[in-house]
Amino acid sequence: MSAATHDLLGLFRAFLAGRDDALVDGFAAAIGAAPAERALAPVSLPCLEYLPRAAAIAGGGAKPLAQCLARHAADLRWAQTYSEADFGRDFLDRYGWTELVGTRGHFASDTIAAGFLLLGPHVVYPDHHHIAEEIYVPLTPLAEWRKGDGAFVRRGPGEVIHHPSNVGHAMRTGAEPLLALYLWRGGPLAQKSTLTGASTVREA
Ligand SMILES: [Fe+2]
Repeated sequence: MSAATHDLLGLFRAFLAGRDDALVDGFAAAIGAAPAERALAPVSLPCLEYLPRAAAIAGGGAKPLAQCLARHAADLRWAQTYSEADFGRDFLDRYGWTELVGTRGHFASDTIAAGFLLLGPHVVYPDHHHIAEEIYVPLTPLAEWRKGDGAFVRRGPGEVIHHPSNVGHAMRTGAEPLLALYLWRGGPLAQKSTLTGASTVREA
């Protein structure tokens, strides 16, 4: 048993409970009381250079979770869904996720995926959608989020952002990185998103 991943899962659950949001509670319940742990070999990514800064700027109640993630980042399996052909090298150097719970996660689940997304500064994660229903909760301030045909809106730490199945969404960062937790359910939990927007790395 890994103390690091259990610490992280405990703080992850506590943070979800703190949202006081019925939709979030439904996702959280799907994690189950004691999901089986997998022994996954750690994998690092270039984007992890931005994680200490993300933990430093994490807001309010999100800071213990972000700091725990930063402390244990080297024990986790970080991954990318896209390739250089999709988004280019600059994007890949500033993008990654780690799945805490799920079909590929440090804890096993066939019904939910739960983890963290990290984006470095000056990144646009372009419009995309997927079958699974999704919740994001930013842990850091300042990043901007877009849903459907709406405008980009700044979302703060602890806000619950809900993307129903196949609703397009996009995110972009400015001078600071974005760290957010994600929850997926109700669709293929390892699906590569369908892209509908052009990728860019923004001018610094
Ligand atoms: Fe998504």
